[in-house]
Amino acid sequence: MNANAPIGIFDSGVGGYTVARALQKALPMEDVIYYGDGCNAPYGNRSKEDIVHLVRQILDFMASKQVKAVGIACNTISTLIDEFTGYDFPIFSIVQAGADEVVKCAPAKAGVLSTCFTAQTGAYAKLINAAAPQIQVLSQGSVNLAALVESGTASDGEIAAELHDSLGLMANANPDVDTLVLGCTHYPLARDIIAREYPQFTNIIDPAMGQVEQLRACLAANNAFNDNGGSLKVFTSGDCAKYEALAARLGMKLTGPATQLHVATPL
Ligand code: DGL
Repeated sequence: MNANAPIGIFDSGVGGYTVARALQKALPMEDVIYYGDGCNAPYGNRSKEDIVHLVRQILDFMASKQVKAVGIACNTISTLIDEFTGYDFPIFSIVQAGADEVVKCAPAKAGVLSTCFTAQTGAYAKLINAAAPQIQVLSQGSVNLAALVESGTASDGEIAAELHDSLGLMANANPDVDTLVLGCTHYPLARDIIAREYPQFTNIIDPAMGQVEQLRACLAANNAFNDNGGSLKVFTSGDCAKYEALAARLGMKLTGPATQLHVATPL
């Protein structure tokens, strides 16, 4: 593994910024390439075949950048991690990072709010219960929350209404659940509204930091820390101005303006 090579982080859109931001804070000397497929988001409403087709093109782009490792910041995509073989760099699933965090906290019940695609795969329950069969996992999909966050223009009221139609169903039926996994990378960007609307969740898990720890452990095992980098380059098929504005709002330091790039075409 080449220590001076960049780390790739990608997502269907802006959601993966939550991982890129955590990575920049934890490992500030690493070079990071971020790709957000804004024009094809949301992925959560696409078929498995379409998602795999899109993601292989993004991974080919990462390969062309000679990355040393890739973090799939998107939960929806991470549920399909077994499909992404044949690359000469390690690829990390954020669902695994989130599941590991739940196992560490060991609640009796854990709620997972995600896209409907992620909820239907049962990926969180499988991974959590493989390590801790006693934890009851309650999966709840949201049809529109990722798209509302991705738009960047949704009001607090619109986001709260979508939460009531999704998270509300699980929360109201299970008032004893206090642990909630934000099982979609877009959701930490709405964390304040989630915490305000559903104060029963006193333990909100954002898997972003767990993914950064996966990457750190991989670099440590390969003696591949960069001590000479620190750039963060953003590429997107979406609206560059939006990606730049959100980066500034989150306190992320971008190296140069975001670059418009379409690397993936749907089926
Ligand atoms: N950010 C993606 C995730 O973590 C979902 C958004 C989408 O549906 O594109 O699941």
